[in-house]
Amino acid sequence: MNIQFSAEKMNKVNEIIARYPEGKQKSALIPLLHLAQDEFGGWLDAPVMDYVASILDILPIEVYEVATFYTMFNTKPVGKYLLEVCHTGPCMLNGSDDIIDYIKEKLGIGAGETTPDGLFTLKPAECLGACGYAPMMQLGKTYREHLTKEKIDQLIVELRGASVN
Ligand code: FES
Repeated sequence: MNIQFSAEKMNKVNEIIARYPEGKQKSALIPLLHLAQDEFGGWLDAPVMDYVASILDILPIEVYEVATFYTMFNTKPVGKYLLEVCHTGPCMLNGSDDIIDYIKEKLGIGAGETTPDGLFTLKPAECLGACGYAPMMQLGKTYREHLTKEKIDQLIVELRGASVN
């Protein structure tokens, strides 16, 4: 696979790098990893991380360290829809464990696993800063809030429908 940002994304890469002083291009690493994850299938494999390292002229290990430290970066393949359900204190007290168990049962997968059709990955997450809407999850760039089993049912139907359109 030829790993290369699109021309449009490359413009964005250059714009991000230009925000930092000469010689401090490593500071652009996290935003570049977000772009790479978006561009290359929702996760970061070694060749993609090596590619980012080459753009920033840093060592691959410097990229691996960051990508494996932050949970918002996926270092294993994920489904088309990544259900990141918060299970930190306020969400837990409002039933996130039940929501996670319900998703596991409904989709037949465990935490960190992906459905065989490649559609859904379940990923318990730490506080996503929306405690007032507990229990909640992140789905791509949106938050789904005040989750209930009924809302999970609706969401799965909605996403399955969207995936065939
Ligand atoms: Fe779930 Fe903060 S504890 S968003």
